[in-house]
Parts: sequence; structure tokens; C-alpha cells
Amino acid sequence: MLWQPIFFGIATSLAYATKPDPYSSWAANSAIARGQGNGLANGVPLVAYDDGEFQWALRLLYERDGNKSYLNYIETGANNIVLENGTVHGSYNVTEYVLDPLRTGPTFLYLYNITGESKWKIAADTYRHQLNSHPRTAEGQFWHKLIYPNQGWLDGIYMGEVFYAQYTHDFQSSNTSAWNDITSQFQLMFQNTIQNATAPNDTHLMYHGYDYSHVAVWASPDRGHSPEVWDRALGWYMMALVDVLDIMPVSHPGHAVLLHILQTLTPYVRDAADRMSGVWWLVITQPGRTGNYFESSGSAMFVYALLKAVRLGRVQDNDGSIVAAARKAYGYMVQNWVIHDANGTMSWNNTVVVGSLNLAGDFDYYIGQPIDINDLKGLAAFVLASIEYEKL
Ligand SMILES: *[C@@H]1O[C@H](CO)[C@@H](O)[C@H](O)[C@H]1NC(C)=O
Ligand SMILES: *[C@@H]1O[C@H](CO)[C@@H](O)[C@H](O)[C@H]1NC(C)=O
Ligand SMILES: *[C@@H]1O[C@H](CO)[C@@H](O)[C@H](O)[C@H]1NC(C)=O
Ligand SMILES: *[C@@H]1O[C@H](CO)[C@@H](O)[C@H](O)[C@H]1NC(C)=O
Ligand SMILES: *[C@@H]1O[C@H](CO)[C@@H](O)[C@H](O)[C@H]1NC(C)=O
Ligand SMILES: *[C@@H]1O[C@H](CO)[C@@H](O)[C@H](O)[C@H]1NC(C)=O
Ligand SMILES: *[C@@H]1O[C@H](CO)[C@@H](O)[C@H](O)[C@H]1NC(C)=O
Ligand SMILES: *[C@@H]1O[C@H](CO)[C@@H](O)[C@H](O)[C@H]1NC(C)=O
Ligand SMILES: *[C@@H]1O[C@H](CO)[C@@H](O)[C@H](O)[C@H]1NC(C)=O
Repeated sequence: MLWQPIFFGIATSLAYATKPDPYSSWAANSAIARGQGNGLANGVPLVAYDDGEFQWALRLLYERDGNKSYLNYIETGANNIVLENGTVHGSYNVTEYVLDPLRTGPTFLYLYNITGESKWKIAADTYRHQLNSHPRTAEGQFWHKLIYPNQGWLDGIYMGEVFYAQYTHDFQSSNTSAWNDITSQFQLMFQNTIQNATAPNDTHLMYHGYDYSHVAVWASPDRGHSPEVWDRALGWYMMALVDVLDIMPVSHPGHAVLLHILQTLTPYVRDAADRMSGVWWLVITQPGRTGNYFESSGSAMFVYALLKAVRLGRVQDNDGSIVAAARKAYGYMVQNWVIHDANGTMSWNNTVVVGSLNLAGDFDYYIGQPIDINDLKGLAAFVLASIEYEKL
């Protein structure tokens, strides 16, 4: 009887050997085969930040492999939300003042750079104008949305600042006010949400968000921050740091400010990983508590940010512990969250669908949200993590 499990073991590894490409391409090609990230939701145009995240990854694959299908897919997706005259549609409404849509802006800038077609510049200008009148706290932080007055969420830094920085780089590179403002968005978010040493279960990481006016049900009485460190929010912020550091001129003082924040957070992100699995809890402030679990989008974002930070020398990794942590996490991810589909594609598991601060923002809220397979926020992050891992 002993041969039977061995036989099945061999059959399994043969099936696994059909993985055609590096994980980065396999994950991207699988999402493309499913029609994900193309500016449509059930066939209807929709501006979606996760499309912007995925297009950022496809651009890196295009630049790495020269496969023009990726560029074509980016262009098709953007064409689905931008009319010929440059009008952004797909439910975009500037006067709602939401930061999320702006994460598709870097795609417009990239296409303008490559094609020179004015429609992409017009679309990017629309988003840039939103920032000029976007509501802010008294300190200057963009509200996450008009309907959430005075609230800064970590997510919004990735949604807004990658675009703001790329636009400034491309069209207003000597606009010091804009570079100062971008710096200030990162700084204010850091100061208002960083856990301090006397906080219970201190991780030295950043809470999901804060309410400058302290009126939200979840706002702490002392500083107005939300109750928990949520993995994906911090993942967005970490990705924004490593991506904007590439875009902001080194000569601007804000570059050193962002670098300092990245260097401050990195060892604590490394140390917050679960010791056994190597990946990160959904609610980082409550490791091991019943109902908490290892979440795949935040984990992939951390792997991307840690590896990119080390690769570009933004943080020193003298004892190799940062890369070792990222490697360990990546190993867990491909073992546990990559699903080998019978039709040859891969799927990505265990991504929490939402995490908002529109309700209680407490532990029970986060663990009560559904997880999904092939949620693009997580899958795109896995493509990004894989691109970095494959560079090691
Ligand atoms: C190029 O990308 C497309 C789209 O994902 C994929 O189907 C194709 O296999 C890739 N081509 C090569 C040569 O890898
Ligand atoms: C391949 O199979 C997976 C899992 O059943 C499914 O989600 C996906 O849509 C299929 N892909 C294609 C291109 O049919
Ligand atoms: C852009 O084109 C659409 C569709 O043709 C049209 O409804 C809209 O008025 C145009 N916008 C501008 C600013 O020309
Ligand atoms: C755009 O948003 C504003 C503010 O929420 C709202 O008043 C307006 O009706 C919206 N416009 C459309 C076309 O949905
Ligand atoms: C495209 O981007 C490159 C690299 O940043 C830059 O040198 C070039 O001027 C840009 N071209 C256009 C048309 O924006
Ligand atoms: C420079 O950036 C600031 C801040 O976003 C903005 O108010 C200003 O209009 C920009 N200057 C130019 C010349 O566009
Ligand atoms: C640090 O956090 C604790 C708990 O939230 C709070 O009571 C205290 O006021 C904070 N201290 C500072 C200096 O912000
Ligand atoms: C601290 O973490 C433990 C273990 O996850 C958890 O049970 C407890 O509720 C946490 N305490 C606070 C105040 O978050
Ligand atoms: C996806 O993950 C969930 C929760 O971890 C698990 O119950 C489910 O079986 C997984 N799905 C697949 C297809 O592996």
C-alpha cells in the first residue's frame, strides 16, 4: 500500500510542474484570462483603484519582459474608463472628493508618456484639479472622502500620493509646494496614527486611520486614531513609500523625510510577522486572537515593500533579516495561497474583501469581513511581491 501515496505525490508534483512561467507572469496572465482589472465591472465601466494597482504591476512586467500584451491590456483597460475627448467616466464624480479613483491616474500618465495622446493628459488633469479643491483637515491632510470629514486613512496615501507625485514629476517638477504637500501627506498620516510605546499591544506601527475632529465612533479620545493596525492599510502605506521614493527628486528635502519614515517602520514590519508562518495577521495588534487569521493582500504588500526597499538601498539589511523575513513569507504565500486551477491558471486565496472605517473599526469588525479568491487588491500585490522576489 505504501506506493499509493508516493504515486499520488509524484502525480501532484507533475501537475505542479506545468506552471508555465514565473509566479509574477502566471498570476498576471491568469487574472488577464479571467478579464480582471480591465476597467469594467460586469461589463460596465468602473474606475477602480485595484485596476490601477494591477496596471502598475503589468507595466513592470512589460518593462521586464517586453511582452506587448501587457501594454495593450493596460491601454484597453484605461480606454474603458476614459472617453476619446479625455473625459473620465465609469462612475467618477469629482465633487464626491474620494481619493480612491486617483490610483488609476498613474496609468493615464504612463500612457501619455508612451503614446503622447492628449486624452490621457486631459484625464490626468481632471484628477489633478480634484486635488486643488479636495477638502483637508486644519493640518492639511486630505480627507479620505467628502462623506468622511476630517478622516485620514492610510489607504488614501497609496491612492492619492503615487498619482500626485507622478503628475508633479512629469509636468511640474519644480513645483516646490506640490512636493512639500506630498511630503506633508505622508508625515501627517504618520504622526497621527503611529502607535506610541504606552499603547496596549504596541507594535510601533500605524493604526488604520484617524479623525482629526475626534468625533468618529472609533476615534481614540487622546489622538483620534482608530483602534487597530490593519494589515492592508499599512501595506498600502508601505507600498506608497517605496514607490514615491522613486518618483520624488532626491534633491527635495521630502525625500529624506519619506526615507526616514520607511527606515523607522521597516524593522517593526519585519518583527510583526508571525514567527511560525512568516506572514502577517489581518489585525496586527491582536496576534493569535481567536478569529484573527493570516491575510494575503497585506502580506504580499509587505513582501513587495521590504524587498524593494532593500534592493534599492533605501534601508540597510546588514544582518540579512529583512530579506530573510520576506523570503519566509513568500514561501508561505506560494504554498498556502496559490491555488493551481485544473485549467492551468492560478488563483490567489485569502484576501479580505474590505476594511473600512465607516463602522466600529474594531477587532470584531475586521474579522467579520469576508475573504475571497482572486480579489484583485491581493492578486495584484502578489504580482508585485513576485516581481521583487524574482529579482533576488
Ligand atoms: C504575453 O502576455 C500574454 C498576456 O498575459 C500571455 O498570454 C502570453 O503568453 C505572454 N507571452 C509570452 C511570450 O510570454
Ligand atoms: C480557470 O479555473 C478557475 C477555477 O475554477 C476559474 O476561476 C477561472 O475562471 C478559469 N479560467 C478561465 C480562463 O476559464
Ligand atoms: C466628451 O465626449 C462625450 C461623449 O461624446 C460628451 O458627452 C461630452 O460632452 C464630451 N465632453 C467634453 C468636455 O467635450
Ligand atoms: C456627484 O456628487 C455630488 C456630491 O456627492 C452629488 O451631489 C451629485 O449628484 C453627483 N453627480 C452625479 C452625476 O452623480
Ligand atoms: C517619459 O518618461 C521619461 C522617463 O521619466 C521622461 O524622460 C520623458 O521625458 C517622458 N516623456 C514624455 C512625453 O512625457
Ligand atoms: C503647485 O502645486 C500646488 C500644490 O498642489 C498648487 O496649488 C499649484 O497650483 C501648483 N502650481 C502650478 C504652477 O501648477
Ligand atoms: C500614547 O497612547 C496612549 C494609548 O492610546 C495614550 O493614552 C497616550 O496619551 C499616548 N501618548 C502620547 C504622547 O501620544
Ligand atoms: C493584545 O493582544 C492579545 C493577543 O492577541 C489580545 O488577546 C488582546 O485583546 C490585545 N489587547 C488589546 C488591548 O488590543
Ligand atoms: C481558501 O481559503 C479558505 C480559508 O482559508 C479555505 O477555507 C478554502 O478552502 C480555500 N480555498 C481553496 C480553493 O483552497
